[in-house]
Amino acid sequence: MLRIDIPVPSVVVLMGASGAGKSSFARSFFGPTEILSSDRFRALVADDENNQAATSDAFELLYLVARKRLRRKRLCVIDATNIRERDRAGYVALAREFGCPAVAIILDPGIDVCIERTKARSDRDISREIVRQQYSELQESLHSLNHEGYSQLWYLREASIAAITVALQAGSPQRPISPAGETD
Ligand SMILES: Nc1ncnc2c1ncn2[C@@H]1O[C@H](COP(=O)(O)OP(=O)(O)OP(=O)(O)O)[C@@H](O)[C@H]1O
Ligand SMILES: [Mg+2]
Repeated sequence: MLRIDIPVPSVVVLMGASGAGKSSFARSFFGPTEILSSDRFRALVADDENNQAATSDAFELLYLVARKRLRRKRLCVIDATNIRERDRAGYVALAREFGCPAVAIILDPGIDVCIERTKARSDRDISREIVRQQYSELQESLHSLNHEGYSQLWYLREASIAAITVALQAGSPQRPISPAGETD
């Protein structure tokens, strides 16, 4: 069994193409309020997880909630594809701002599995081409991950995804922190 120790608080950034299993992974190991899902925030503002026009509002809310949670030293698990460095740089900056670690978890069950699972889904219609593009973009950006500021990097292939356990390492209780400009 492979164990991932996640410090609390921290910002856990899940990465993976559509169908890689990010939301399933998140649900297996984290509580519903710990998971900040871009799809969920799209649904909250537009009643539709797949409404791409709601993306900007969804991420605005995601960051707002993450800030409110980090201020209370709560864990934040970011469930979005986070394919490109520019998609995820904000989370590392956020963790740094609140003085906590950022943890990267890359889910890579393989392109064929991602495509198969996406095809089988009734809740989402994502083309094989888009999944391929997401997959290869993430592969191309893997080399930069070492330099993006994560305190832990986990690259999980299909077998390790199935064998993983996650343990939360709670820090000592402290008063909520308030970075400059944060007024609640
Ligand atoms: N480890 C797994 N074994 C078998 N099936 C899985 C596994 N993980 C996820 N699935 C299935 O694959 C499909 C896609 O999983 P999931 O929704 O977690 O992917 P995702 O990475 O969140 O995709 P998206 O980026 O589109 O939100 C779901 O139907 C889910 O039940
Ligand atoms: Mg998902």
